Amino acid sequence: MVLDLSDLSKSFAGGAVRVLDGVSLSLAAGEVVALTGESGSGKSTLLHMAAGLEPVDSGAIRFEGRDLVAMTEAERAALRRSAIGIVFQQFNLIPSLNVAANLRFQARLAGREIADFDGLVASLSLQDQLAKYPEDLSGGQQQRVAIGRALAAAPRLLLADEPTGNLDETTGDGVFELLLSLARARNAGLLIATHSERLAAAADRRVHLSHGRITG
Ligand SMILES: Nc1ncnc2c1ncn2[C@@H]1O[C@H](COP(=O)(O)OP(=O)(O)O)[C@@H](O)[C@H]1O
Ligand SMILES: [Mg+2]
Repeated sequence: MVLDLSDLSKSFAGGAVRVLDGVSLSLAAGEVVALTGESGSGKSTLLHMAAGLEPVDSGAIRFEGRDLVAMTEAERAALRRSAIGIVFQQFNLIPSLNVAANLRFQARLAGREIADFDGLVASLSLQDQLAKYPEDLSGGQQQRVAIGRALAAAPRLLLADEPTGNLDETTGDGVFELLLSLARARNAGLLIATHSERLAAAADRRVHLSHGRITG
């Protein structure tokens, strides 16, 4: 398993708001799992915890068998740079870098160059945008750059938090399909939060978060 979440619980506001209440979820390499749930159901909290960005109250998180909870902050950061790709709803590109530099940035952080830069660019249909800056791109193009950046370090796990939430339906459909096909082609596990039951249907498996628990 690339990711194993076991009996995770999380509260905010000193315990007053219980967001996750014993959530267990496993993701195999190459598997695409869609995470659905109402706004406020805890999807982002779950993804942040899986990335080691949010402390857990109780429960275990294992990345390829390694205990994420027991790691130091520096070890979790190193793991994120080298093995985990994250795509957010807000594209979070670096405004002062052009598309090519945005794509290369994440791989450089991980201490490597992109293995097949031209192939990555072609798979994202960004050939004609490389010299442009984020503000000159459409939303769909910006999100394709963000996907490329997440893929650049060749992650084994991709976490995507409503990656089509800021896109119109047609553009969002294309981005969603692209993300699934690229994750599958690279045999990365993909956990993707989405509001859309229609998009979730394209995943290998769907889980629904409600009242802090996973339902089928
Ligand atoms: N840092 C935080 N402090 C306090 N409450 C938070 C924090 N992060 C999330 N929450 C609360 O946890 C709940 C789940 O939020 P979130 O994980 O963002 O849900 P979703 O992504 O499904 O919309 C919400 O009630 C939200 O207000
Ligand atoms: Mg969210």
